[in-house]
Amino acid sequence: MFGRIMRMTAGGGVAIALAAAACTAEVPGFDSKSSEQKGAPGASLPGQGGEPEVGADGKTATGLPCDIDATLKQKCQTCHGASPSFGASAPLVTHADLMKDWPSGKKVYELALARMKDDARPMPPVPNPRIAGAELTAFESWVKGGAQPSSDRCDARAPENKGGVKPLSCKADTLLKSKTPFTMQVGAPLDQYICFGVDIDLSKKRHVIGLAPKVDNTKILHHILLFQSSTSFGDTPKECAAFGSAAWKLVAGWAPGGDNLELPPEAGFPQEKGTTHWVMQLHYNSGSMGNKPETDNSGYELCTTENLRANDAGVLAFGSTKFNLPPRSNSEISCDYTLPNTFSGVKFFNASPHMHTRGDSMSTQRLPGGKGTPEMIFDQPKFDFENQANFKITASVAPGDVMRTKCGFKNPSDATIGFGEGTNDEMCFNFIGYYPNIPDKTLFGLPIFTWVTPSSSAKCTTTTK
Ligand code: HEC
Repeated sequence: MFGRIMRMTAGGGVAIALAAAACTAEVPGFDSKSSEQKGAPGASLPGQGGEPEVGADGKTATGLPCDIDATLKQKCQTCHGASPSFGASAPLVTHADLMKDWPSGKKVYELALARMKDDARPMPPVPNPRIAGAELTAFESWVKGGAQPSSDRCDARAPENKGGVKPLSCKADTLLKSKTPFTMQVGAPLDQYICFGVDIDLSKKRHVIGLAPKVDNTKILHHILLFQSSTSFGDTPKECAAFGSAAWKLVAGWAPGGDNLELPPEAGFPQEKGTTHWVMQLHYNSGSMGNKPETDNSGYELCTTENLRANDAGVLAFGSTKFNLPPRSNSEISCDYTLPNTFSGVKFFNASPHMHTRGDSMSTQRLPGGKGTPEMIFDQPKFDFENQANFKITASVAPGDVMRTKCGFKNPSDATIGFGEGTNDEMCFNFIGYYPNIPDKTLFGLPIFTWVTPSSSAKCTTTTK
C-alpha cells in the first residue's frame, strides 16, 4: 500500500515523491500487527484470555452483561484486547479475564473500577475521555454486586478506530521513519525513549498539510513526539532523554486515543528549499510484551504538496522558561504574553501541550485587548506525560491580546524544580500551531523573536498550595 510512498530512510539525500496535493484516498493511520501476535505467550501475569467467538448472529458471549461488555469493547479493548497492547498487561475481554487475581491481591474487575475512578492515573488514559455518568454507575453496581456472570449475547462490534488515529484525508507521500528498526529485548526496562532524526532535502519548497503517526508494533510503542530542530540529530536511533531537548520545537504528538494533525486549507508547514531537520522520539513500554523480543519501526507520515497554500504555518511555545516549583507542593504558574503587532490576523489551529512527569494540567486563554473576558482556547485539566498528544483548537487573535498559559504541577520531592530538559527539571510549553507564520527576527545575532519568545518573555506568577 505504500508503493508510492518514498521511504524517507533517515539520512541519505532524499528526493521527495512527486505526489499530487490533496487527494481523497484514505491512508489508514494505523497498521496493527496484533493479528500476527495473537496467542503470543503472556509474561508472568495472569494468562491471556483469547478472543471470544462471534456467532452466526454476529454476537459474542463473553460471560459479561452487555452494558459492561460494551464499555470494555469501546473504551478499554483498544489496549486491553485478548492480546494487550500499548503497555497494558491485563486482557479485559471475557468474564474469566475480569475474575482473575492480579498480583496485587485484587481481582481484575476491582482494579478496573478503581482505575476508572482514579483521578491521578485514570483509565482509559489521557487524552481519552473519562468513563462517567450512567456508564460508570452501571460498572460500579455490577462490581458491587459481585461481578456476576451473564449469558447475554452482545454486539460483537470491535473497538472503533483502533489506536485512535483517524485516517488522513490527504494522501501521505512522505514517511519519516528510521532505517534501523528498534528492538526491545526481553527484560528491558519498563520505559525506553529512542530518538532518531530524518533530514529532508528539497530542491523546491513544499507545504506539509497533514501529519499522522504510522504505528507499527502496538505491543511496545507507547507514544510518539515529532519535533523540528535547527540541526541534524543523526539518523541512528539511540536512547535519548525522556524529555527531549529544550531546543526542539514540538510539531505533533500522538498517544493511543490521540488524533492526527491536518492543517486548515489555507496553511501548510513549510519544508523550505534545502534541509528540514525532523526529530522523532518514540516512547516504548515493555508492559504488554511477551517472552520474545519485539521490533518496531513506527514513524510519522506526512502529506506534502508543492502547490503551496496561501500561508506558511508555524509553531510557537506559550508558557514559561523561568519558574521554580517549591518542594512538597502543588503549584500553578500563570504566564501572560501580550501579542505584538506581528500577530495581526493570526489564527491558532493546534495545541501540543508539553510538560514533564510532574505536569498535571495545562490551559491557554485569550484575554481580548489584554483585559476582556478570558476565552478558553485550550484546556487539559488532566495532563499525562506518558500520553502527550495534539489537539485541534480554533482561535483568532489580534495584537494587544494577552495569551495566558497556566501549567499545574505536583512536586512531591524535597527539591525545588526549575525549567530545563533534565530528569530533575520541568517544562511548561503549549506548542501552538498557527498561521500566517511570523518569521524569526534577530538583531546582531541575538534572537528578538523566535518560537520560544512567547514563553521566554512572558510574565509569570506562581501560586502554591
Ligand atoms: C490507550 C490505551 C488504554 C486504554 C484505552 C485503557 N487502558 Fe488500561 N492500561 C493502559 C496501560 C498502558 C496500562 C499500564 C500502565 C498503567 O498502569 O497506567 C494500563 C493499566 C491498566 C490496569 C492495570 C493492569 C494492567 O493491565 O497493567 C487496569 C486494571 C486498567 N488499565 C483498566 C482499564 C480499563 C477498565 C479501561 C477502560 C475503561 C482501560 N484500562 C483502558 C492502557 C490503556
